[in-house]
Amino acid sequence: MRSFGDEDSIFVDMDRLNPNTQTYQPKSLPEREAELDQLHSALRPATMGSTPLNAFVFGPTGQGKTVGISLKTSQLQEYADEKGLELHVVHVRCKGMDKSYHVMTHLVKKLREKRFGPGEELPSGYQKKTLLSMIIDELEAIGGTVIVILDEIDAIGNDDYILYELPRAEPEDVRLSIIGITNDLQFRENLDADVRSSLGEDEIEFAPYDANQLRDILARRAAGALRDTEIGDKDRPFATLESDVLTDDVIPLTSALAAQDSGDAREAIKLLFRACRFADDDGESTITEQHVRNAHEYLEQAAVERGIQSLPLQRALALLTVTHATISGTDQPETKDLHNLYEVFCEHIDTRAISERRFRDKLNDLADSSILAKDTRGRGQGLGQTNRYEVEVKVETVLDNLTDDSRIEAVIDEMLRPRMD
Ligand SMILES: Nc1ncnc2c1ncn2[C@@H]1O[C@H](COP(=O)(O)OP(=O)(O)OP(=O)(O)O)[C@@H](O)[C@H]1O
Ligand SMILES: [Mg+2]
Repeated sequence: MRSFGDEDSIFVDMDRLNPNTQTYQPKSLPEREAELDQLHSALRPATMGSTPLNAFVFGPTGQGKTVGISLKTSQLQEYADEKGLELHVVHVRCKGMDKSYHVMTHLVKKLREKRFGPGEELPSGYQKKTLLSMIIDELEAIGGTVIVILDEIDAIGNDDYILYELPRAEPEDVRLSIIGITNDLQFRENLDADVRSSLGEDEIEFAPYDANQLRDILARRAAGALRDTEIGDKDRPFATLESDVLTDDVIPLTSALAAQDSGDAREAIKLLFRACRFADDDGESTITEQHVRNAHEYLEQAAVERGIQSLPLQRALALLTVTHATISGTDQPETKDLHNLYEVFCEHIDTRAISERRFRDKLNDLADSSILAKDTRGRGQGLGQTNRYEVEVKVETVLDNLTDDSRIEAVIDEMLRPRMD
């Protein structure tokens, strides 16, 4: 391990490789030129004294939706400031707000902060209708053109009141545009047809990046972040990347791993960042393929642990049945036996058991998130198929990360741990 003050680092600007959007925002997104042109066209009326269109932006996680929309709206803001146009952009990140009500309280706060500066309180104790008129009042007080960005709007689930009402609100002397952003395709499908047609005047899709795009994205982030690392031609970042610290395979391997997982730029950047940090922490002067592999394993393990920590009760119990079988040396038990054991657990903690069919769904959910491995095989001629499950991770990883709920803890302490010795 290095000591603080050790100047000899492979980093020159660590922030540039930090995937956190608060820390670093790219100045250009060439891979999203087409999508940002679409947004440009929707917002352009603002420069001509007309009302910009509403837009609905969707695509999987880590595809540059948030940074792209904020880049485009800040360009518009700059232009407006230069020309003396009255334009205001309000960005509400709706993550964790499970009702339209919450989104509206945050919107009131943000709009007030536009007028009075930071530090406004969240309004509380109002009816939805009252909040809506408060929003309209604030919009009218601000005036001019207002662009409201509702990012991660899927958080509101079925409660689409704000998406229904806001596009219909007609604040006087205000040109209002709403941009909804989501990575939840199902949410978009489930939207009420009226909501979808008023909000989605323009629909803009951010499709997953492929491995080549991820290479270019990583090359641009690495240049400037790492010592002696530069791009020759900005239109061909990866092809013209020269680096004394990155060995040749690092970026292709990182992009390939991320593309195969989901094409998620956030994951790709996170992976490269972690690989570089591993190398740097060890005091090494180059980053190698091995650092990337170690970083991948490390991040996967961390993701599995987070996944286990956030399991709801029924899924946690389902996981514990398979873990119990592993501990007791039962190789790949049948679902029926697991369900019997599950019923014993439920009785032990005084919880109602779900049916075997729904229990099987929980096991499959766990297999989908790579916590369990599933193996489908025939029972023998004419007897149909059966699924067998195994824990994909270490038993200790399961037990150590399932401690949030006292009922789960009781099952672990009283029914699993004693069998381990
Ligand atoms: N084309 C790109 N060039 C450079 N960096 C990018 C590019 N696209 C995305 N990124 C980076 O990837 C990370 C994720 O991007 P962003 O937060 O915009 O994703 P998102 O589509 O909004 O995802 P989510 O749906 O999870 O909110 C950010 O750190 C961002 O800077
Ligand atoms: Mg986002």
